[in-house]
Amino acid sequence: MKREKVVLAYSGGLDTSVAVKWIQERYDLDVVCLTVELGQGEDLEPIKKKALETGAVEARAIDARRIFVDYFVWPSLLAGSLYEGRYPLATALGRPLIAKLMIDVAREAGAVAVAHGCTGKGNDQVRFDVAFQMLAPELRIIAPVREWRMSRPEEIEYAAKHGIPVETSGAKAYSIDQNLWGRAIEAGPLEDPWVTPPSDAFQWTRDVADTPDQPAIVEIGFEQGRPTSLDGETLDGVALIERLNELGGQHGVGRIDQVENRLVGIKSRELYEAPAAVILHQAHRELETLTLSKEAQRFKTHVSQACADLVYNGLWFSAFHHDLMSFVASSQRFNTGTVRVRLAKGTCVVEGRKSDYSLYAPALATYAEGDQFDHDAAVGFIKLHGLGQKTQAQAQLLKAAEEVPRIELIPPSGEGDD
Ligand code: ARG
Repeated sequence: MKREKVVLAYSGGLDTSVAVKWIQERYDLDVVCLTVELGQGEDLEPIKKKALETGAVEARAIDARRIFVDYFVWPSLLAGSLYEGRYPLATALGRPLIAKLMIDVAREAGAVAVAHGCTGKGNDQVRFDVAFQMLAPELRIIAPVREWRMSRPEEIEYAAKHGIPVETSGAKAYSIDQNLWGRAIEAGPLEDPWVTPPSDAFQWTRDVADTPDQPAIVEIGFEQGRPTSLDGETLDGVALIERLNELGGQHGVGRIDQVENRLVGIKSRELYEAPAAVILHQAHRELETLTLSKEAQRFKTHVSQACADLVYNGLWFSAFHHDLMSFVASSQRFNTGTVRVRLAKGTCVVEGRKSDYSLYAPALATYAEGDQFDHDAAVGFIKLHGLGQKTQAQAQLLKAAEEVPRIELIPPSGEGDD
């Protein structure tokens, strides 16, 4: 009798390789391995080969870099999504796309289940499982690493027993996940938040001490919020991000050392290398200072935080996310223009910004000749702006100054200056 199938998200690493065998033994299913290329910089052919050698009945690979950039990375850039103000969400953005592609393959192959190699204490299991539950409730979810409770040595023993190759380079000090939008490094020596990041944790970015003395100046062109060119050269998203990762990395830009709050209730220390993401978020936000009204700019900070939380917490496909993105998309209608940044010694500094839709009005802003600002109108404006305050001061504050507890903004004289 033919066995039923499961589609496993396969990276080629130890966990998912062991999972191929373990699923066959534990669940008696045929395993179809799917590797999704999101720009993690690994060759797909050897990974497919390893999947088959490990016992998969089929090994597929999908290059989803374009989709990743157009439908996941750019929207999150437009939204200004940085988790807890810093993490550009590379891993969190990749998961819903991988989940969606797994579902497509599962349906095409007639599989009854999907499987991933996430542990039981991370965010990624949530991102996968929520996406599966929402988009394909008919599929069973198998999470071998969460279920098997093997220690690392037991896993290696299991691998050896089944002839699964284990890299014994000893360089496996960290747990790493990477795609075009960034590289995340955790565990090993980093588990102590006091420990200085060892230099071997970084691969994409140079140490500041090794960066060139000559800064790099780059002009980034945006159309309705989407980056479309570098120094006037039109580039597709994948190429643009790759180029900024390269250039930013050379100048030591994009390192983040963050203690973050996971969804599952624990704090974890993570390092990120995300040169393109750091540069593009900064430049994008800068362009908005010209093209968004004061009100839209302020309101958008709330939307940015809500979007970042949603994405981090695995709710990419939620209706609320869709609703928030309608605001984001609308806010970007006039966010077209160019930002010039300077990359040097680990820093990215904006040097200039321009837009045909700029709300910056030189004739109103200038202190030189040609000033069109109505100075006389300021007097009446201030009178009304302060009217409520003036009324309250007279009716309450000036009368009750002695009885009311005050916030001391300036220490009373005599105190503390002996
Ligand atoms: N902490 C990040 C997140 O939850 C990245 C996790 C990446 N995984 C890793 N093994 N470094 O999105």
